[in-house]
Amino acid sequence: MRTAIYPGSFDPFTNGHLDVVQRATRLFDRVVVAVARSDSKHALFTVEERLGLVRESIRSMPNVEADAFEGLLVEYVQRQSAQAVVRGLRAISDFEFEFQMALMNRKLNENFETIFMMPKDTYTFLSSRIVKEIARLGGDVSPFVPPHVQSALAARLATEKA
Ligand code: PNS
Repeated sequence: MRTAIYPGSFDPFTNGHLDVVQRATRLFDRVVVAVARSDSKHALFTVEERLGLVRESIRSMPNVEADAFEGLLVEYVQRQSAQAVVRGLRAISDFEFEFQMALMNRKLNENFETIFMMPKDTYTFLSSRIVKEIARLGGDVSPFVPPHVQSALAARLATEKA
């Protein structure tokens, strides 16, 4: 049983994230989308809400699970007996941070590999931050996120404005 952890903030989960999950399922028997419980960023959705949006997005994928984790990723990977961490790499601009994180994680625990997957080229420009900005400014985010994420964004931003 080969398990990969796909960690991230997922605030919110996008079609780019879903594309990476689909690619990872071709290589691994089990993929766990792991939402980080980190308060270092100002998030639009709570961890539980983000987890719910991930769960709905992966509902039809039998070998994919969603979970939340606290603390060090390397410890979570160990607890899940995973062989790899998967991260999406969109452009060179992602590389520096990803490289640093992968090598630091390797220093902390040499027992798993970090694997980078390139999402479909149509998602190269996509990020949760940009999706939130477009939604806030009244733009159409339907090409970028699953329909239930679009609804959640609209509902959250409506309460923000009220
Ligand atoms: O979607 P993001 O915000 O780019 O994801 C970053 C994330 C959550 C994968 C990273 O911050 C992380 O692994 N956090 C857990 C705490 C940890 O292990 N930090 C040390 C990383 S070298």
